[in-house]
Amino acid sequence: MSAVPTQADKQARLASILACAPVMPVVTLDAADDALPMACALAAGGIGAIEVTLRTAAGLDAIRAIATAGLPGVVVGAGTVLDARQVEAAHAAGAGFLVSPGASPHLLAAAERSGLPWLPGIATAGEALALMERGYRQFKFFPAAASGGIKWLAAVRAPLAQARFCPTGGVTAANAAEYLALPNVACVGGSWVAPRALIAAHAWSDIERLASAAAALVHQGGRGMPSMPEA
Ligand code: 3PG
Repeated sequence: MSAVPTQADKQARLASILACAPVMPVVTLDAADDALPMACALAAGGIGAIEVTLRTAAGLDAIRAIATAGLPGVVVGAGTVLDARQVEAAHAAGAGFLVSPGASPHLLAAAERSGLPWLPGIATAGEALALMERGYRQFKFFPAAASGGIKWLAAVRAPLAQARFCPTGGVTAANAAEYLALPNVACVGGSWVAPRALIAAHAWSDIERLASAAAALVHQGGRGMPSMPEA
């Protein structure tokens, strides 16, 4: 039987997922049949980690389709994970990681029980600190633009020196490079790489083009593993 992963193991796994590419596409699918061609287009463009949100009924089947296909170099995670039931369903569907827009005691307990790496959302230093006490070092900064954006990330760099962020929410092709220049940004997340309308139109070569441009963004910041407390 494999050992239960420690928080340090999960943070290390998360660091490698966030280092897959400068941009993690946040994808919302209306039809699970679109999941595989969409993931192939993203992979062809050089994207390694894909967040499929659970905002639609197709979300879980989409995750299952991508996970089952086992595309080389592609890891699919579940996004917009809001409660324990969704944690269990995402795990059962084959998600390799979980992303949430925030954190609550029940969600945190369920994410920890699952053994999956979890990227919890935070929008304040206090929310980050509460999770850092439990060994978390990597956070979704959400909603990034509405919560202070680049200025917020620059301001917390010194006091929260151990923390790494994936800003999401209002990050675009136009401002992603500015976020990625910050040393405490592990990667950025956003829906612009695989927009819902292009997925619905099966515009796979357009999505591949957007993915290539996203994967080519220069990343100057905090890739790799932030230092961890003793497990
Ligand atoms: C998310 O869940 O991360 C956001 O909804 C993505 O935000 P965006 O559409 O502004 O990229």
